[in-house]
Amino acid sequence: MSSQIETLETESSWKPRDGVLLEVDDLHVEFRTREGVARAINGVSFDLREGETLAILGESGSGKSVTAQAIMGILDTPPGFITGGELRYCGSDLLTMTEDQRRRIRGPEISMVFQDALSALNPVFPIGWQIAEMFRKHRGMNKTDSLERAVQLMERVSIPAARQRVKAYPHQFSGGMRQRIMIAMAIALDPAVLIADEPTTALDVTVQAQIMQLLQELQDERKMGLILITHDLGVVADVADRIAVMYAGRIVERGDIFEIYRQPAHPYTKGLLDSIPRLDQKGQTLAAIGGLPPSLTKIPVGCPFNPRCRYAEDVCRHDPPPALREVIYGRFAACHFSEALLEGSEELKVTQTVEDVQRATEFGDEPTVAEHEGDEPKENLR
Ligand SMILES: Nc1ncnc2c1ncn2[C@@H]1O[C@H](COP(=O)(O)OP(=O)(O)OP(=O)(O)O)[C@@H](O)[C@H]1O
Ligand code: SF4
Ligand SMILES: [Mg+2]
Repeated sequence: MSSQIETLETESSWKPRDGVLLEVDDLHVEFRTREGVARAINGVSFDLREGETLAILGESGSGKSVTAQAIMGILDTPPGFITGGELRYCGSDLLTMTEDQRRRIRGPEISMVFQDALSALNPVFPIGWQIAEMFRKHRGMNKTDSLERAVQLMERVSIPAARQRVKAYPHQFSGGMRQRIMIAMAIALDPAVLIADEPTTALDVTVQAQIMQLLQELQDERKMGLILITHDLGVVADVADRIAVMYAGRIVERGDIFEIYRQPAHPYTKGLLDSIPRLDQKGQTLAAIGGLPPSLTKIPVGCPFNPRCRYAEDVCRHDPPPALREVIYGRFAACHFSEALLEGSEELKVTQTVEDVQRATEFGDEPTVAEHEGDEPKENLR
């Protein structure tokens, strides 16, 4: 098995600005559906540096995949629209580029491993053909050379007997092997940024560990910036440098992984950490939080987390949502009481227990819902 794939001949003309590959600045995305306007992303900001792993965490429906789709330029439009903010790659504004320019970035520069490996592969074409297609399309290679590259890539992601299986179809591979194939396709063109959306969901624990190890090795080899989207805090602890925790389309806490694990500055992050290891159970309440995330057509007034937050006070229900701000050096959180939480201050009182939250959920107590400007859609940026 070859340990490295030969360096591709095409060198990228894109250069990071001061080490920064990707900048997401105040991103807003909404979905215009029959049920109303779902505010899926509400002012998300982060950046990604060369060689760095940023994990994006949050419960189902918090906006993780939509953030990735907006960066990739593959948002489901309509009903999804980017209505505010900026996305920059190596300093260039992605939102003002033509579709042709975006296509030249998607794959060779920013690539993605999708949440559902089987549906992302075409069932009627052999695996090797699908990988080779990337080299034919983007690098102008002939059939023989592109298939040889496909075999090398399959070997690199540890597909056994790659040369013999290059003509096999997706359904002839196990879930774990298909996920490796998705990773092979995502790294085929040597991207600077790789977004891996739940790359280990639905895989058993041993395969999960192998896939994460593979991603780490590839990142080390190539100095890629990696955005890892996951529910799994255990996975994150092993691989991430920084994390961004999302709730109802906002980042509620962002910073160094170990600092956050040691001492979270947002009650939601604290609840997630206290809920390990139950996070991969979609639609289930979190042990240490209670209740469910809000519908994005009905985000509560004030802090969106207030109906579930054990420390919620009147200010949390009535004032505008707290902005993400630097609460200690390098740590950003969106809570009125982050400092008190960090200090373990006795002024921070438990105002509702998990049982209170559960009871309110069972009796269908609807929180006060934010006015969405008559649910009139905003202007589209793209
Ligand atoms: N195609 C769509 N049409 C309408 N609304 C959508 C669509 N895609 C996403 N949304 C809205 O955006 C919200 C965020 O979706 P997203 O897929 O980003 O969640 P997620 O955090 O990736 O969740 P999961 O962990 O389940 O993958 C959804 O709850 C939904 O309200
Ligand atoms: S602002 Fe209030 S409701 Fe929101 S997380 Fe902080 S304490 Fe909880
Ligand atoms: Mg998702």
